[in-house]
Amino acid sequence: MQKTAPSSMKRIARITALAFAALTTVGAQAQAQAGAPLKVGFMLPYTGTYASLGNMIESGFKLYVQEHGGKLAGREIQYFKVDDESEPSKATDNVNKLIKRDNVDVLVGTVHSGVALAMAKAAKDNNTLLIIPNAGADAITGAMCGPNIVRSSFSNWQPAFAMGKVAAEKGAKKAITITWNYAAGNESAKGFTEAFEKGGGKVVKDLTLPFPGVEFQALLTEIAAQKPDAVYAFFAGGGAVKFVKDYVAAGLNKTIPLYGPGFLTDGTLEAQGAAAQGMLTTLHYADNLDTPRNNAFRKSFALTYKANADVYAVQGYDAAQILAAGLNAVKGDLTQRDALTAAMRKTPVDSPRGKFTLSAAGNPVQDIYLREVKGINNEYRAIAVKALADPARGCKL
Ligand code: PHB
Repeated sequence: MQKTAPSSMKRIARITALAFAALTTVGAQAQAQAGAPLKVGFMLPYTGTYASLGNMIESGFKLYVQEHGGKLAGREIQYFKVDDESEPSKATDNVNKLIKRDNVDVLVGTVHSGVALAMAKAAKDNNTLLIIPNAGADAITGAMCGPNIVRSSFSNWQPAFAMGKVAAEKGAKKAITITWNYAAGNESAKGFTEAFEKGGGKVVKDLTLPFPGVEFQALLTEIAAQKPDAVYAFFAGGGAVKFVKDYVAAGLNKTIPLYGPGFLTDGTLEAQGAAAQGMLTTLHYADNLDTPRNNAFRKSFALTYKANADVYAVQGYDAAQILAAGLNAVKGDLTQRDALTAAMRKTPVDSPRGKFTLSAAGNPVQDIYLREVKGINNEYRAIAVKALADPARGCKL
């Protein structure tokens, strides 16, 4: 028998031990994962003008999990929460609490586009899974797109583009846009302008005020002086309630129709009351979509939370559905990241809004509805644009 020198025998033994340890670590990780809860980190606004939006998203997400026995792909869910206050300057610190301190498996957030841009950067830098249940920042599924990032909501361009088309079809020639001066507002105004001008109209002025300000008077006076055929406004949450009421109090609605993406009247109607009646908006959801899926969802939501669902609740619910589709494909094993993110994109989502799939960039390809406010509902009127896909400008995947 050939003799092996003691030093090389030791080396072989060490390598064998290392290889064994590595294998058992991977095995143990997968096994520990299978038994351990999946850590979901909500980064959402729980205070400020978007607080109700954050709460509805969380409620929608948890409703789906609850309907599935508190588990996704056989794994219990453990929740972590950070209030992002819709404050971009705190966003990186806040998201790192979830990524580095809490070590979450998946981030779910947020509402505000400026905060979401910082989240997307952190998710990319740390290779963390991110599901965006609202914020429409075009770049997130455009130039910043990545395999680990998907959105259950919309891009800012989508509902805005649809409203521009509708306003032009209604014969408006001269429009003014008004919004908060940050990514979502500016991109929304831009998407509206693109379709409105393609349809023969002209946007003569873009009015803005800082987020989340509600001092609208000077801007409303300017609109009255300019006498456009239509106004397109992006506001949401508490700010949208105040804007619609102020617009009506100034008497502008009598001569100048107020249009917007559906955020202007979604989750706000009880507070807007008479002021919002008859308003037309465009969005990927309408309260009274008479489908078994939407009816069941609304009933389940109302029973659980004693409140009516809105678009934000739908987006939260669908964020959980998208995560479930990914997890089911890998039996809850997050180490199979490529298979998981591929399944998230491939699996059609049976949403209360109607079935949709994600684009390669990770954004819903979806019908945008024209809705009209009746009482406390945004009622379906027509499909404004069928299966609208965000152009995903600059996305290379
Ligand atoms: C956004 O900042 O992207 C945003 C916020 C609230 C909405 C919609 C979009 O309702």
